[in-house]
Amino acid sequence: MKKIEAIVRKDKFEHVCQVLERSGIGGMTITEARGFGRHRNGLREKVKIEIYADEFQVDKIVEMIRLNSKTGTTGDGKIAVINLEKVYRIRTGEEGASAI
Ligand SMILES: Nc1ncnc2c1ncn2[C@@H]1O[C@H](COP(=O)(O)OP(=O)(O)OP(=O)(O)O)[C@@H](O)[C@H]1O
Ligand SMILES: [Mg+2]
Repeated sequence: MKKIEAIVRKDKFEHVCQVLERSGIGGMTITEARGFGRHRNGLREKVKIEIYADEFQVDKIVEMIRLNSKTGTTGDGKIAVINLEKVYRIRTGEEGASAI
């Protein structure tokens, strides 16, 4: 299992969100964030997206985020894929892929 963590432009987020909602992901979490990249031009408002996913979904999700959040200018953001040790569904106690 992986966590896909993406930091995208605020004005691209709604479009990315619509595409993700129509895809097969189990869910996602959004956080309003602020940050800077290598251009160091002050803290800019961004949106952080977090998705827990099974391995086979990862490439598709990364591409969906990348293609739908890109403008081609500096500040488009980052996508990270992070190893996920465990996921639990609180209600049922399910663990692992079935908890996604
Ligand atoms: N190394 C990093 N670690 C954590 N967050 C980062 C990092 N780099 C960028 N971010 C986050 O992503 C946002 C957008 O970064 P940005 O797209 O400007 O990265 P960049 O590496 O400067 O790429 P570009 O050259 O396209 O501007 C930042 O505001 C910050 O929130
Ligand atoms: Mg930058």
